[in-house]
Formats: sequence, structure tokens, C-alpha cells
Amino acid sequence: MKHLISPSLLSADFGNLQRDIEMINNSEADWFHLDIMDGIFVPNISFGFPIIKHIKKHAKKTLDVHLMIIDPDRYIEQFQKAGADILTVHYETCNHLHRTVQNIKSLGMKAGVSLNPHTPVHLLEDIITDLDLVLIMSVNPGFGGQKFIPNALDKIKKLKKLIIETKSNALIEVDGGVDNTNAKLLIDAGCDVLVAGNYIFGSSDQIKTISELKLL
Ligand code: DX5
Ligand code: ZN
Repeated sequence: MKHLISPSLLSADFGNLQRDIEMINNSEADWFHLDIMDGIFVPNISFGFPIIKHIKKHAKKTLDVHLMIIDPDRYIEQFQKAGADILTVHYETCNHLHRTVQNIKSLGMKAGVSLNPHTPVHLLEDIITDLDLVLIMSVNPGFGGQKFIPNALDKIKKLKKLIIETKSNALIEVDGGVDNTNAKLLIDAGCDVLVAGNYIFGSSDQIKTISELKLL
């Protein structure tokens, strides 16, 4: 499968959000990556339902929603109503991950689980066949523009092995510090979806930057 690109709107210009959404619509990007932060699980607060609904109205591609919130079960239905197509929760925030994943899928969304840099891949052994996506964090979640943690590459290789062994259909997504110095290595390691925020929105020609990531 050709890898996918999911630009992170966290680095978009929120004063010109519709313009940045149209840029992604008109680019070779595949998904929109939306980062939802609660100020408790991560030391930052981003945006909530009104903004997601606004994005949904204009976006012509899959909404890939990354929840960095504690006890996400409280809000699963609201995220579905706001327009999420893929809903990813953090392993570290769920006491009953299996139930959370089933809840997400029962509402018609794809279910993802994200691992912080310190959380090992083997903890997913008994749930990997239920997942549509695993999101490997290559920075500590909370902020855009951070430096890539190279250990993510080894985690992706381990995860790829686990997915093949278990015949899981889960896609591997990587998030944090992705740029032209590591993107090819990530794809070669088995990554299916590249999230990029600062690298895309900080570039002078965003459409071209997305095309270059897609071409790798
Ligand atoms: C970090 C977020 C990321 C972030 C990526 O907590 O999950 O999606 O926006 O931004 P960059 O690509 O700038 O590291
Ligand atoms: Zn993210």
C-alpha cells in the first residue's frame, strides 16, 4: 500500500482555518489530523467540538482524530457526531481499552490506539487484531514542532512484525517531528501514515511539501 499523509492542523493558521483546509483539500494529502488535548493528560489545551464541526463542513477527506484526553469514553459519541472518521485514544488513558475500542467501532468509526514514547509495543499483543490503526508517538504528546525521538523507528519495526504475525489489518501511523530527514526511514520501517504539522505548515510551499512527502 502506498503510504498516506495526514497533515496536523495543530500547526495551521487558526485565523485562516478555512484557507488551510482548502489547501489540504487541493493537495495530495490523504487525511486531516486533528489533535485534541485536555490540559490534563498533556500539558496543553487545543480545540474542541465547535472547531471539529467547522473543519468537517469544509474538509473533503478523512478526519483522523487523535485524542490526548483522559477517560475518552465520556466523549466518544460526541466525536462521532462532530464528524470523526477515525478515532484514536491513548493506551495510557484507558483502563478498559477493549471496551473503548469496541465502543468506537460500534458507532461506525475506525478505532486507533496511540502509544507514548515510553509505552512498549508488546502491550498491544492482545488487542492488535481489533485495531484499525496504531499511532506511534515520536515525540511526547502536547505540542507541535518538537524533535523526533529516533527510538520510534525500532517501535515501528516491532509493530510491523506483530501485525504480520497476527494477520492484523491495523495501519501504522507515526506522529511527531516528521520531516524530510526521517520520513523515508519511517516508511521503510513499515509506517503506513505520516503525520506532519510544523514541517508542512512551516514550509513556504505547503502543497509541494505534501507532494514531496507523498512521493517518497
Ligand atoms: C503532538 C501532536 C502532533 C503534532 C505534530 O502532540 O499529536 O500531531 O501536531 O506536529 P509536528 O509534526 O510539528 O511534530
Ligand atoms: Zn497527533
